[in-house]
Amino acid sequence: MMSEISLGILDLAENSLRAGASLIEISVGVSSYEGTLNVSVRDNGCGMTAEQLEKAVDPFFTTKETEGSGLGLPFLKYSAECTGGTFRIESVKGEGTCVKAVFGLFHINRMPLGDIGATVRAVMVLCADVVFSFSADGRGFVMDTRAIRKILGDVPLESAPVMEYIKEYLEENIQETSGEIKL
Ligand SMILES: Nc1ncnc2c1ncn2[C@@H]1O[C@H](COP(=O)(O)OP(=O)(O)OP(=O)(O)O)[C@@H](O)[C@H]1O
Ligand SMILES: [Mg+2]
Repeated sequence: MMSEISLGILDLAENSLRAGASLIEISVGVSSYEGTLNVSVRDNGCGMTAEQLEKAVDPFFTTKETEGSGLGLPFLKYSAECTGGTFRIESVKGEGTCVKAVFGLFHINRMPLGDIGATVRAVMVLCADVVFSFSADGRGFVMDTRAIRKILGDVPLESAPVMEYIKEYLEENIQETSGEIKL
């Protein structure tokens, strides 16, 4: 079972990829003043009708051909709500889906954020383009693979030196942004 918020984000991105998304926007925002940790994953995949959307958060509902437990969304919903937080999905058929989860930052039940850099890098390798925004108490940064690809020209984003650079860039900026806040 999922034990870190980052793995929950990876689950959401997997749903987005299965929905045929070519762009996934992942955002993590922390406010120690409000006591919240906000997560959102937005995609431009196939989306869902109102009827499909209603079923999506039902435990065991899945449209996966094999190995789907259908527990991804309900488990994340529970993980957020048991910290006094909220969970919302918006979806438009043919346009895409946005999942927003709010966790109580200081709540005893909150899972640790975990290795969000590793999650973002995994999604970068799997999805055409990724925008990652990270913010904490007014500081923040954004990493957009579309901008990186422009700079790289013919060099593939997936090449080892580029991924190594991205790893360090993410780690440094996440560390600097979160400062003293325990995530
Ligand atoms: N981003 C999305 N775009 C379109 N459909 C989605 C999206 N996320 C979820 N769904 C639909 O909701 C269903 C339930 O998703 P959920 O993550 O709970 O389970 P699953 O992905 O089917 O299986 P599991 O996550 O347990 O491996 C999916 O099978 C899919 O039909
Ligand atoms: Mg899933």
